[in-house]
Amino acid sequence: MTNATEIKPSSAQSARPEWTSHMGFILASLGSAVGLGNIWRFPYVMGKYGGGAFLLVYMVLMCAICIIPLLCELFMGQKYKKAVVGAYESVDKRLKSLGWLNVFTVILISGFYFAVGGWIIHYVLIYFTGAIPHGTDYAQYFNNFAARPVLPLLYAFLFLAVSAIFPYRGVNSGVEKANKIMMPAFLIMLLFLVIISQTLPGAKDGLEFIFKPDFSKFNAEMFLIAFGQALFSLSVGMGAMMTYGSYLNKDTSLVDNSYIIIFGETLIAISAGLMIFPAVFTYGLNPGEGPGLVFVTLPEVFEQLPFCGNLIAVLFFVLLLFAALTSSIAMLETSIAAFRESLNMSRQKATLAVCAIVVVLLIPCTLSFGLLKNIQVFGKTFFDLFDFTSSTVLLPVNSCLLCLIVGWLVKPSDDIVKGNKVLYFIFNILLKYIVPALLLFSILCGLNIIKL
Ligand code: PFF
Repeated sequence: MTNATEIKPSSAQSARPEWTSHMGFILASLGSAVGLGNIWRFPYVMGKYGGGAFLLVYMVLMCAICIIPLLCELFMGQKYKKAVVGAYESVDKRLKSLGWLNVFTVILISGFYFAVGGWIIHYVLIYFTGAIPHGTDYAQYFNNFAARPVLPLLYAFLFLAVSAIFPYRGVNSGVEKANKIMMPAFLIMLLFLVIISQTLPGAKDGLEFIFKPDFSKFNAEMFLIAFGQALFSLSVGMGAMMTYGSYLNKDTSLVDNSYIIIFGETLIAISAGLMIFPAVFTYGLNPGEGPGLVFVTLPEVFEQLPFCGNLIAVLFFVLLLFAALTSSIAMLETSIAAFRESLNMSRQKATLAVCAIVVVLLIPCTLSFGLLKNIQVFGKTFFDLFDFTSSTVLLPVNSCLLCLIVGWLVKPSDDIVKGNKVLYFIFNILLKYIVPALLLFSILCGLNIIKL
């Protein structure tokens, strides 16, 4: 494994950027993994689906199953030194369209992810300027805000513009630098808020909600939820880790780094629970789901905190903003790198082209809570449709094809597991049969073809 020493770009690949240090790669990959999925979704689903029991399943899935597509993406990137379209094309020309399907998936995710990013900017600003008075009905406030026709759109565009600055500037001076600044700042804020939260009277109930193992919840649904969460969180199945892997030095150990990413990302997701739930239980609030938890329940917590509630709120939303930004940078870089290489565009032109497409998708997604609320496709608003199509269908489809292609066509040598013959045997069984079968099962369940 290459340790935290500098990785010098080799002159042979001087045209293609490489991470300037091992730490730069780890922080960027963790930045991509840690996002909205960890802060508001993971703690909630963990509490709902069996606490400690869910955590156990999640960890086993991460370490034994999801590591396989993660390893494959990093491997493909490192081997072919190309972004997702070029990497698939290097395996076989006919696979180019699969590369584009990955780009399509990540752009679709950007559509709804950036809409939420815009909401976060709004909440940073209202807490920073003190524009939200005590006694506000936060549910109504959030619903009214999200339903407005123009303001959420402007914030979403702002979020997109801020995210795009970094890939526009390049891999080292943009993407890597942004992660090197935002990730440590994020971790410090997270640690501080976790500590504050443990001093509240509801700390014990909060810990019980997330950790108390409820083994009666062990079932196929819990397994599927944990699987989907793990894949989305690791940002596999959409070329993001392949793109980041393509900036890796040839000598970097992929297994070691995959485990670093997996443990780092799980630890952060658990910390998010430790930060949120003690506070929620202290004030007798409902540990509700998704956007509601962050934009409705937590503002109620901030209002009731005995001192510095506004300051804590600003810190929390800045933390959330950094988590979202480091993920959105990875999404944009995935598409930009593909456009740049496969459509022969300059980085700057590619950035503008990708942003233009994301703008088009952001409009229906953001307006899904107001003007376009009643327009439904397959019974879903645009926001839900983009989320469902990308996270529940395309992401496992892409991951499944990735494993099959790497397993049956590319056939990595045992170097991928540092020459360990037993591990290599297990790796191949997982890669060729077990992981694709599990992914297929999750796709069929997601499409309701198999009913649980
Ligand atoms: N892993 C991110 C999260 O958990 O919020 C989401 C994500 C990041 C998806 C990067 C796609 C991506 F390319």
